[in-house]
Amino acid sequence: MNLTESLKWRYAVKKYSDKKVTDVDLRAILEAVNLSASSAGIQPYRIIVVGNPEIRKKLSEEGYNPQISEASHLLVFAAIANLSETHIDEYMHRMSVIRGLPLESLDNFRKILVANITGRTQEENFIWASKQAYIGLGTGIAAAAELRIDTTPMEGFNPDRFDELLALKEQGLKSVVLLALGYRDAEKDPFVNAPKVRLALESFSKLTT
Ligand SMILES: Cc1cc2nc3c(=O)[nH]c(=O)nc-3n(C[C@H](O)[C@H](O)[C@H](O)COP(=O)(O)O)c2cc1C
Repeated sequence: MNLTESLKWRYAVKKYSDKKVTDVDLRAILEAVNLSASSAGIQPYRIIVVGNPEIRKKLSEEGYNPQISEASHLLVFAAIANLSETHIDEYMHRMSVIRGLPLESLDNFRKILVANITGRTQEENFIWASKQAYIGLGTGIAAAAELRIDTTPMEGFNPDRFDELLALKEQGLKSVVLLALGYRDAEKDPFVNAPKVRLALESFSKLTT
């Protein structure tokens, strides 16, 4: 599949049909997000797939995005609220096992990462973690489009309410951004044939000489 064609095909869907995304496709999208780049590779966010329809309904009560409950699936991108040395140690352990390296050989890398997170406030760390989540969001949108699965990225929600209903605080997470997955209702979605509004490429990107 040609990525540019897939990106032209996709749009932020407002009205979903009842058709469900299969578990195989859901897994493929999650795998693509998991393969996304992240700063230093630390992946400071998690994805919660909200299945329970009653919770989905409650989550959609506040705000203006019915896709939260109407789409086939809802992914909540949640960043780690308080990055700590423990997260870094877990990452070092993962790298040591997967790459077959002695843990001590990663000491310098570990020190740099620890200095980075301890040199910032927890709020700054959360913002940094959220930026990594957005990279995953972009990958998820593109991966779904390649499978001709529709998506809606959404910031229009109440993060505190989501954190409470999904017990994210207890998991050390805070919700950042949402991705609805499903299939467009081509008859009811007013945006189904709307041309894309984008800058001319020459205005968007400039070549320096
Ligand atoms: C981070 C982010 C947040 C967004 N939040 C919402 C939202 O809350 N509700 C919605 O319907 N669309 C939302 N959108 C969709 C944008 O409005 C849409 O991507 C943009 O208008 C470009 O149109 P297109 O994606 O259909 O090509 C969001 C998009 C992004 C990337």
